[in-house]
Amino acid sequence: MSYKSEIEKRRTFAIISHPDAGKTTLTEKFLLFGGAIQTAGAVKSNKIRKYATSDFMEIERQRGISVATSVMSFQYKDKLINLLDTPGHKDFAEDTYRTLTAVDSVILVIDSVNGVEEQTRKLTEVCRMRDTPIIVFVNKMDRDGKNRFELMEEIENELQIKLHPLTWPINNGKDFKGVYNLHDKNLILFTANTKASDEDVVQIGDLSTSLLDEKLGEKDASILREDVELVDGVYGPLAIEDYLSGKIAPVFFGSAINNFGVREMLDNFIRIAPVPQCRPTTDGAVCPEDEKFSGFVFKIHANLDPRHRDRIAFIRACSGKFERNKYFHHVRLNKDIRFSNPYSFLARDKDVIDEAFPGDVVGLFDTGNFKIGDTLTEGANFYFTGIPSFSPEIFKEVQNKDPMKTKQLEKGLLQLTDEGVAQLFTQFGGNKKIIGCVGELQFEVIQYRLLHEYSASVQFNTLPFFKACWITSNDEKKLFDFARFKQNNIAEDKDGNMVYLAQSEWFLKTEITNNPEIEFHYTSEIHK
Ligand code: G4P
Repeated sequence: MSYKSEIEKRRTFAIISHPDAGKTTLTEKFLLFGGAIQTAGAVKSNKIRKYATSDFMEIERQRGISVATSVMSFQYKDKLINLLDTPGHKDFAEDTYRTLTAVDSVILVIDSVNGVEEQTRKLTEVCRMRDTPIIVFVNKMDRDGKNRFELMEEIENELQIKLHPLTWPINNGKDFKGVYNLHDKNLILFTANTKASDEDVVQIGDLSTSLLDEKLGEKDASILREDVELVDGVYGPLAIEDYLSGKIAPVFFGSAINNFGVREMLDNFIRIAPVPQCRPTTDGAVCPEDEKFSGFVFKIHANLDPRHRDRIAFIRACSGKFERNKYFHHVRLNKDIRFSNPYSFLARDKDVIDEAFPGDVVGLFDTGNFKIGDTLTEGANFYFTGIPSFSPEIFKEVQNKDPMKTKQLEKGLLQLTDEGVAQLFTQFGGNKKIIGCVGELQFEVIQYRLLHEYSASVQFNTLPFFKACWITSNDEKKLFDFARFKQNNIAEDKDGNMVYLAQSEWFLKTEITNNPEIEFHYTSEIHK
């Protein structure tokens, strides 16, 4: 197969949702369609939210298992699909945000009963930052959910995204009868707990046909006719460019648990979802067709077992061809490295792969060479950009309980933060170390790992901050004066960038208003 067709057959995406909306169930149905698994329940997912904080060892154990399902590659029709898993637990939200830098599109699952929820909002925001194309799957139509029009309005308003339905539901809850495919103009009748088979698809050339009344009953048929007239009038045909540029999100309705509406979405997904895309670097855009290999690390998974200190760095291939045992250039370390056991993920023929193409994700066994955002090339010296750090939400000061182990502690903190477990800040003009995380769980993980992997014993003191903002200014002096004046709220991140730690939204707003020469940023780019 030619290099170009290798690229064109790949679709790399993630499914995102608020916990419980149905991401795992939908993932499983996709894998069943792709033949990657044979039975339901086979996905050992990142479903870890049901455990209390104190069960973090169990959570980490499960995360260990879930490395295998971090990337699920499967063939569907003539396409090779790379589905990148994202943790459901909100404490691991940063992992999810970073995974989103490695995909070309996403499917957003929304629970028709609960509508837009907290994580839905945050994740969509991250997608919007990069104009990532989004397909929306409104799930659980078999339950008494919100009115379809109100739900569409809620999603559009809350997520600030324009929707474009490609299927349309006929009722919900116990009266749910199926969906009408607005693109193919056919009716797919709902039967619970079955794979919708060909008999359940009714071709409807013209909605005025009496066949519609026969299949749905007069009342529902006439509601559908009215709905479709309205929907067609409002939306017209889908402009695929608007989807690809992240301006419009196609919508499908269904029920993942009943495997209903899933195939329609998957078929449309492979029809419209983007192939591997060009990506910005410090040296201009790098495109999949470029001959020389390049890729970047978006995730590092450490092994909790102290006897196996190895980690897996997940690298997204962006251009050229990755080959086993070939030397590649590690830009940050200015060092050439080769990989004898590049790891592939679920549903490939073997664990060790010989080559990978743009859109693929390769797992590299790592003994500490990599950190998030690292770039590998065939010699060129550039970094991929657009891999941001987001503001943590909980901040704690690190207190060293064993001064004899100061060196180990520093090494441990650096390595753990390289992995992206947390962010490390140093107090401005001092050396107080501050750890910032998205969830409480990470503090336990860090404490445990520092002790078991680095023999360093720490305690955390909670600090009264709620957000970190990276600050910049064209006026160096203003920035320095501000930092001096607000010393207690200023820290430096690992790369020496200045950060303002705000106690509350009110303080932050006040500082923004009072200091117009200073720019406050909610994210920082790892490589600018
Ligand atoms: P998540 O990964 O987004 O967290 O959600 P997950 O797929 O685990 O689904 C959350 C719950 O919603 C599960 O029930 C699942 O069975 C159910 N669910 C998923 N899709 C549908 C659907 O289309 N209709 C209905 N009615 N339910 C759906 P659970 O009881 O929490 O877990 P389980 O014991 O069934 O695994």
